[in-house]
Amino acid sequence: MAEQSLHKAKVVGSTPTPATNMTDLVNPNIIIADAIDQDATEIAAILKLTWTTTYPNDAFGISYDDVSNRLNRFTPETIANRIQNQQELNRHYWKASIDNQLIGICCALKDESNQVFSILSLYVASEYQNQGVGTKLLSTALDWLGNQDIELGVAVYNLKAINFYKQFGFIENGPRHDEISNLPSGKVIPEISMLKKASH
Ligand SMILES: CC(C)(COP(=O)(O)OP(=O)(O)OC[C@H]1O[C@@H](n2cnc3c(N)ncnc32)[C@H](O)[C@@H]1OP(=O)(O)O)[C@@H](O)C(=O)NCCC(=O)NCCS
Repeated sequence: MAEQSLHKAKVVGSTPTPATNMTDLVNPNIIIADAIDQDATEIAAILKLTWTTTYPNDAFGISYDDVSNRLNRFTPETIANRIQNQQELNRHYWKASIDNQLIGICCALKDESNQVFSILSLYVASEYQNQGVGTKLLSTALDWLGNQDIELGVAVYNLKAINFYKQFGFIENGPRHDEISNLPSGKVIPEISMLKKASH
């Protein structure tokens, strides 16, 4: 319902929606904080829901079962382990919550010795999308990464995410492949790289 109202506010009607109304669309109760290992079970649940709604795609032959089976590798234990070791991994994990419920997650990589700066994951629970959660998570991660060339990968058919990242200055930067896109069947989720250049 909230999603529908947002899109109506943005696209319907001959008169542009005044900016004052637009800000009302951001849920005021979103809290961004560092994720901790105790969040791992909720993070695994969000990954399961968002992956299985985002990545199955008939045209590219990516099945629900294949995506779902791929997720078996993201157990709460492996996620908790990565959060515990985030500093050694040059990573940072953030969570978004509303009323103490975890509704989004973002992870970034800042590997200064190899000059690699990436957004590794950004997932918002479906029922909380289009309320400004992704914007807050990504802005937090970009602040942490600083003024660098920042890269990320996105499925070629994930047009919502591609457009979302473009609003932050990312541009499409050709095909890419990451191990995370390899599915148990041998199929691969086709990805493009997106790059946000540092400003000089
Ligand atoms: C892509 C994703 C992270 C975006 O998160 P989100 O919380 O829905 O993002 P936001 O609400 O901040 O912004 C979404 C849209 O609402 C708009 N919006 C947000 N707040 C707004 C406001 N106050 N006024 C007007 N528009 C607003 C944004 O401009 C954006 O517009 P768009 O639909 O034209 O792109 C989220 O949809 C998601 O998790 N998708 C599934 C998983 C996925 O694809 N992850 C990325 C993997 S690379």
